[in-house]
Amino acid sequence: MRLDTITIKSNIKDYSVYFENNADFLERIASKENTIFVVDSNVWEAHQETTLAKIPQDKLILLPISEDLKNINTVCELYEKIMSFAPRKNLTLVSIGGGITQDLTGFAASSLYRGINWIFIPTTLLAQVDSCIGAKTSLNFKHYKNLVGTFYPPSEIYIYPEFLKTLTREDFYSGVGEMAKLHLMSGEDNTKIFIESLDKIDKQDQETLLARTQNCLKIKKSYIEDDEFDTGKRNMLNYGHCFGHAIESATDFRISHGQAVVLGMILANKEAVRLGLLSQTMEEFICQNVLKPILVVDIPEINIEKTIDAMRQDKKNLGKGLALVMLTDSYQMQKITNMTTEEAGEILLQCQRLSYQTI
Ligand SMILES: NC(=O)c1ccc[n+]([C@@H]2O[C@H](COP(=O)([O-])OP(=O)(O)OC[C@H]3O[C@@H](n4cnc5c(N)ncnc54)[C@H](O)[C@@H]3O)[C@@H](O)[C@H]2O)c1
Ligand SMILES: [Zn+2]
Repeated sequence: MRLDTITIKSNIKDYSVYFENNADFLERIASKENTIFVVDSNVWEAHQETTLAKIPQDKLILLPISEDLKNINTVCELYEKIMSFAPRKNLTLVSIGGGITQDLTGFAASSLYRGINWIFIPTTLLAQVDSCIGAKTSLNFKHYKNLVGTFYPPSEIYIYPEFLKTLTREDFYSGVGEMAKLHLMSGEDNTKIFIESLDKIDKQDQETLLARTQNCLKIKKSYIEDDEFDTGKRNMLNYGHCFGHAIESATDFRISHGQAVVLGMILANKEAVRLGLLSQTMEEFICQNVLKPILVVDIPEINIEKTIDAMRQDKKNLGKGLALVMLTDSYQMQKITNMTTEEAGEILLQCQRLSYQTI
């Protein structure tokens, strides 16, 4: 059974997400005129003889992937390679890869000729369940992560779980972290479905992955359509990210984004208990049944001072205090902007303690 397409309303232009259970869509796209493919070189390596076999090599640009290359220099190299194909303004850029590919090619697509047609085929679970919609493109500048960017959605997005088979376990579970976040944010029933699906998700059952991914995108859609430019409701999607981003950056990105977000949710829940927003029973239930089962990395050593420093520098902090998004007993989200560094330090100490326990 083919899942229904999701259409996202955007101030820039509406766009659609298609859910695929075979690779025919790629052949269709490859047969269009004026298309250029930009493919993550690791994805090409793993899928060139199978899923990607129909991609014409005379229209192909391979993109080496690393967070250090997610910058304007790589975008300039992309402009050059794209222009060497002698394209016209009516060209379509098709990019195939994870979030780094999305950010680099999305930025290039948004700026070349002031915006060219762009199709995105996400190949990581994180990009499939989360980043592919929302229209953000981001580049790193010096040590500032995601400092530079634009709002520019692809016109079409294709979700094909077959790609995920070649991801490392940590990269796969990075996406499961974001999946857990979106299911928790959307209430008790969805949380229950997520818990019941965990075994099948782990086995990468295609039908389960497609259904959970579609659900995630529907939930995210409800946050971004009302607040595309991230000035209000969309902020709530930062559940798990306030501590998560800081842990990622203070540990020099040794753990994947989604796994840091899982730690971030555990910590945000602890602060919510302290503030009386979440019962201890619910916090323990979520930790034992949702979050600990999907934490597949060793908890890194947390340098509290460095982590708090990273929280202070977070571009989401607009006031004097630290911002934190929390889940409450009724599965509603609540944001505070006045967390003190002492309170954050107390919570981070609990993360250090967690690392001594067997998970
Ligand atoms: N624009 C947004 O809205 C947004 C949102 C969230 C994250 N991001 C960005 O996304 C990036 C993280 O992206 P990500 O976690 O999707 O992965 P990624 O693009 O960093 O890729 C992770 C690794 O997996 C490899 N890879 C990708 N797909 C593969 C596959 N199918 N098989 C084998 N290997 C594969 C890549 O080559 C890379 O080595 C960060 O830079 C982050 O800032 C952007
Ligand atoms: Zn995230």
